[in-house]
Amino acid sequence: MSRVAYVNGRYLPHARATVHIEDRGYQFADGVYEVCEVREGQLVDERRHLERLDRSLAEIGMRLPMSRAALRVVLRETLRRNRVHDGLLYLQVTRGVAPRDHGFPPLGTRPSIVVTARAVDRAKADTSAEVGIAVVTVPENRWERVDIKSIALLPNVLARQAAREKGAREAWFVDKDGFVTEGSSSNAWIVTADGTIVTRPATPGILKGITRAVALEVAAKQGLRVEERPFSVAEALKAREAFLTAATQIVMPVVKIDGQQIGDGRPGAVARALRARFHESAERGP
Ligand code: PDD
Repeated sequence: MSRVAYVNGRYLPHARATVHIEDRGYQFADGVYEVCEVREGQLVDERRHLERLDRSLAEIGMRLPMSRAALRVVLRETLRRNRVHDGLLYLQVTRGVAPRDHGFPPLGTRPSIVVTARAVDRAKADTSAEVGIAVVTVPENRWERVDIKSIALLPNVLARQAAREKGAREAWFVDKDGFVTEGSSSNAWIVTADGTIVTRPATPGILKGITRAVALEVAAKQGLRVEERPFSVAEALKAREAFLTAATQIVMPVVKIDGQQIGDGRPGAVARALRARFHESAERGP
């Protein structure tokens, strides 16, 4: 079955799903995006993702070019046409098509919207989670507004590639004071020797992950102790556990940082519990 994308009002096979060469997303990365998990045919935490999309758009002086209700129909139709049961939905909004000029295009320029969806093998992800993944650290080199879910991801791309070249699955950015900010496409967490869960506060400096927010709720429900504060690489290396969160990974145990084993080198009890209970707290609707 060929995949189908929604592009500015039309559902098209991927081979014909194109945007204009003067789309500002293509030329300036002038746009924002969201990635949502799809589970059993339903979007996970759609409301929070769409709220964050609205916020990202507002922060770059844009508004969603269709109603929330209309967009939700498009998201469902994209899932249906791609027959996605378990997988991911990608949604991107850019400032539209206009002759190249750094300043905003003329009023009335229509934003471009693209929505794609694809199936992901849940069993494979679960297998990864059973063994855990390796991460490497890289210097933080992004702009200050990483709270905006912008499509300008070059530092993230380079960081991820650096991780891959070292046989790791994710890169954790480290600020100039030695504290971990977040991953190239995930939020970073540790569990200290006394069992406290630590993750950086969602002040500018990280993206306020939706998975992060739900994981905090799951931790609270389980009566686990949580501290929202920065942690250093040194502290992470001494931690009992480490893990990351993202819509694409849910809760993924980290068993190695910069080649050094974390804890006993196996996924920890806290990460496993948060992963197991995650979908009881996440929202899922028709
Ligand atoms: N990325 N931090 C960054 C830099 C991210 O790109 C992401 C998600 C997160 C986690 O956010 P959430 O829990 O809402 O997925 C944190 C998506 C999944 C991506 O770019 O593929």
